[in-house]
Amino acid sequence: MTRKLFVTTALPYANAAFHIGHMMEYIQADIWVRFQRMQQDAAGKREVHFVCADDTHGTPIMIAAEKEGITPQEFVAKIAAGRQQYLDGFHIGFDNWYSTDSPENVELSQGIYRKLRDAGLIVTKTVDRFFDPVKGMFLADRNIKGECPNCGAKDQYGDNCEVCGSAYQPTDLVNPFSVFTGSTPILKPSEQYFFALSDPRCYTFLKEWLNTPGRLQPEMVNKVSEWLGDAGEKLADWDISRDAPYFGIPIPDAPGKFFYVWLDAPVGYLASLKNYFGKQGMDYDAFLQDPDAEQVHFIGKDIVSFHLLFWPAMLNFAQHPIIDKLKVNVHGHLTVNNEKMSKSRGTGISPLRYLDLKMNPEWLRYYIAFKLNSKVEDLDFNGEDFVARVNSDLIGKYINIASRCAGFIAKKFDGKLAETLTPKAQQWIGRALTVNGAERQANIGANFESREYGKALREIMEIADITNQYVDENKPWILAKDPEKNAELHDVCTTALILFRQLTILLSPVLPQIAARVAEFLGDAEYSWRDTSGATVYESMLGRTIFTYSHLMQRVDAKMVEALFDRPAAAAVSAPVAAVAAPVAEAAASEGIEELAPEITIDDFTKIDLRIARIVNCEQVEGSSKLLRLTLDVGEGRLRNVFSGIKSAYRPEQLIGKLTVLVANLAPRKMKFGVSEGMVLCASAADEKADPGLYVLEPWPGAKPGMRIG
Ligand code: MSP
Ligand code: ZN
Repeated sequence: MTRKLFVTTALPYANAAFHIGHMMEYIQADIWVRFQRMQQDAAGKREVHFVCADDTHGTPIMIAAEKEGITPQEFVAKIAAGRQQYLDGFHIGFDNWYSTDSPENVELSQGIYRKLRDAGLIVTKTVDRFFDPVKGMFLADRNIKGECPNCGAKDQYGDNCEVCGSAYQPTDLVNPFSVFTGSTPILKPSEQYFFALSDPRCYTFLKEWLNTPGRLQPEMVNKVSEWLGDAGEKLADWDISRDAPYFGIPIPDAPGKFFYVWLDAPVGYLASLKNYFGKQGMDYDAFLQDPDAEQVHFIGKDIVSFHLLFWPAMLNFAQHPIIDKLKVNVHGHLTVNNEKMSKSRGTGISPLRYLDLKMNPEWLRYYIAFKLNSKVEDLDFNGEDFVARVNSDLIGKYINIASRCAGFIAKKFDGKLAETLTPKAQQWIGRALTVNGAERQANIGANFESREYGKALREIMEIADITNQYVDENKPWILAKDPEKNAELHDVCTTALILFRQLTILLSPVLPQIAARVAEFLGDAEYSWRDTSGATVYESMLGRTIFTYSHLMQRVDAKMVEALFDRPAAAAVSAPVAAVAAPVAEAAASEGIEELAPEITIDDFTKIDLRIARIVNCEQVEGSSKLLRLTLDVGEGRLRNVFSGIKSAYRPEQLIGKLTVLVANLAPRKMKFGVSEGMVLCASAADEKADPGLYVLEPWPGAKPGMRIG
């Protein structure tokens, strides 16, 4: 069998940075994709395309952009520029990151709409909408504010109350006013476009689609069946139009009308795929028609109706070939210490803070994977549980095997593994890797395939347990003391490393970085799932010369996890205390520091505006041996271009995503390669020969782009 996979995650709204819930979804999908990429089909390595995009349209983004005094396009570009640091930071391997505000999406969305219209499934109805009589325009829910009809809170938007959380219609607000002019909105009839979901054809199709095996989780089939009712009587027409001004895609032949954001958002999946195929010189249309192709969406439980009612109905009645390939995997939500995430209450974890604290992204990947199953269940991030799980499984069980055995191979056997294994060693390998004569790897693979990651990892840890038991029983550290036991030591360490390699391959969808490092250490090429089956597991290792082992992963320090939850201010105040003593002693010992500059007043100092900047991008400057080009976010609603002479000290990828300090009010300087809008702070020694290093400044965690330093 040959499979060709097109995999997506939900397209995140481009009105905010990622939170840890987004990362959970990406980690879930990325593990599945990496597992698929390790598979071999009849045609060779399995073809997998993994894409996403920013979901850019709609009122919240319009409002956010207006607040910052920039266009929605500029706003969205700014958000998009910040995405990569998260994706790289957590090893999320999308092939393409695109945007719903793209020519492909306009063409595809309008094309689907036209076909729906031709099928007689677009109807118009006149409905009363709020209208600003001063500005002369229709108002979206979020363009209207007033008092909450439920709790009376003032200044609440027209769709829901941020104080009591209740949802309502804009017409329910007490004393409503337009956010643009403050005037009282009037109700005015407006013609709206609807997708006729109440048409009996939709019910008939959805009922059948839903019940085709393999498309949806059983609980989702039940849920959507409830929505359909016994004969589709619960299906209401879906309002897909919004009145100008609206940041969106124009509805063909309907001047002043735009698609509601949820009409064009899922089409964005296809737009991203098409854009990616275009860039790769691959045939998009052929892929859509390919009977081996599958389209697999990973989404959260909050957006099920859009993906399980509207989206399949749209594709089907637009006669889109991809409808036969559609599968949707729904996950629950991540909570933090059993609370729904909320920034205002200080819960939730910032993914960037996690990275800034130098916490290992693979800890989080493992922890989340361990808690995931194929059901639509919420999962909780709990600090103590996280520390215990990672330290016990990854460090105590997995890494421990290599750290206890690799050294002896280097020291005693010139890095060479044994040429043969004793029958006893072979028995242990069999014991670790099979159950009732069946290979565990097949069961583990089946669990990855069905997104039962927790089950897969538990079984992998059983292999680790048996391996540790083997090492404990044979005690290489005792064998190493007796030269007559050399052959035995060789046998035991070789066997342990064979099993360590097997564990690494099985874990590699979850721990890609560790897998790459182990492959280097063992002299392996890219790992494939078939390396875990049969005699290949040990045969390829026998007699092999391996490289020096360097420690692969640190334990999680519980203090780090505390810092992760700390309010930023508290962390900054409490942390430096212990650090004060050491630098003083060091300064006294070092000679010849650069002479101090003449004294200045505080006024002189405040003339210099130092700001926290995030390095959203960094690249080489062609033709320059000294400079790197930095793209900086200083919280200004635009990005700055700064050249910095630090090429000798840093590779661009080391800097991307980091925070640093910028002299923000330095006059722009025209350079050979472009204009530099500021200067990044950097430490260097007076005597370049003594220490040629350049050290870019980095603030303590918690500092945010735009904060002033002083
Ligand atoms: N823009 C829409 C999706 C359009 S898809 C054509 C959207 N964006 S979102 O940014 O709000 O959410 C993106 C994804 O993140 C959704 O799948 C959502 O379920 C998921 N998550 C949001 N909060 C989450 C958690 N707390 N935990 C796990 N996933 C979470 O919806
Ligand atoms: Zn309220």
